[in-house]
Amino acid sequence: METKSKPKIAVVDNAPALAEAAARRLIERVARTDRTAVCLTGGSSPQGLYRLLAEDPWRGEVPWDRVHWFVGDDRFVPETDALSNMGMARRLFLDRVRAPLQNVHPIATDANYPEGAARLYEDDLKAFYGADRLDPARPLFDLVLMGLGGDGHTASLFPNSPALNETSRWVLGIAKAGMEPFVPRVTLTFPALASTREMLFLVDTADKRGILSRVLSGEDLPAHRAYAEGDLVWLVVRAAAPEV
Ligand code: 6PG
Repeated sequence: METKSKPKIAVVDNAPALAEAAARRLIERVARTDRTAVCLTGGSSPQGLYRLLAEDPWRGEVPWDRVHWFVGDDRFVPETDALSNMGMARRLFLDRVRAPLQNVHPIATDANYPEGAARLYEDDLKAFYGADRLDPARPLFDLVLMGLGGDGHTASLFPNSPALNETSRWVLGIAKAGMEPFVPRVTLTFPALASTREMLFLVDTADKRGILSRVLSGEDLPAHRAYAEGDLVWLVVRAAAPEV
């Protein structure tokens, strides 16, 4: 397992406080450079954050013309489908704030098959980055958001999947999801997700307490394998936080 940076755990009182803390971290990250890149996540955990970003005062603090929005994984469905991660981000904030269209980088889930979409997204990421190889000294992303699945998966990297061991590809098609919704997926790999100044896991419900404690205690689950070239932070509601 890669252990580039030791995880920090930040505990907050509840889900609204988690959304605010995540918004503050995001705004801090995107304020630092001219062109910034944020990698979004799906599921329910980031939804409070996404809603906040469309509201004042947060909305006014994001330099929308300078931030590029990617997604760490998506379900292989049209963006209009309720299951689409990028579709959800668009509905909750990107459309509402009128983020410049050229700054939103969805996975082409209208490609013929997930692996085709993965190749296209890898090309998009390489074009944005300006090189074919990731340089640890020059991360691809400023912030990567991550969620934790009930089985310990993160992005669409499921337990026992060969995708967990990928070291050269940036993006992969996943024919079979390990958990609901059982639709094919496209996911960034660990090395691509790790190429970030900060990786921020969001854990906003008490039902994640058991799986979170397994991940943090070192069990070989996908979320435990996630690493970051920069900071690795777990933002967790108190009800899910491990005993100290
Ligand atoms: C997806 C996600 C996935 C998610 C976890 C947690 O597309 O399903 O990106 O990795 O983050 O399953 O999901 P919840 O936030 O809904 O618990």
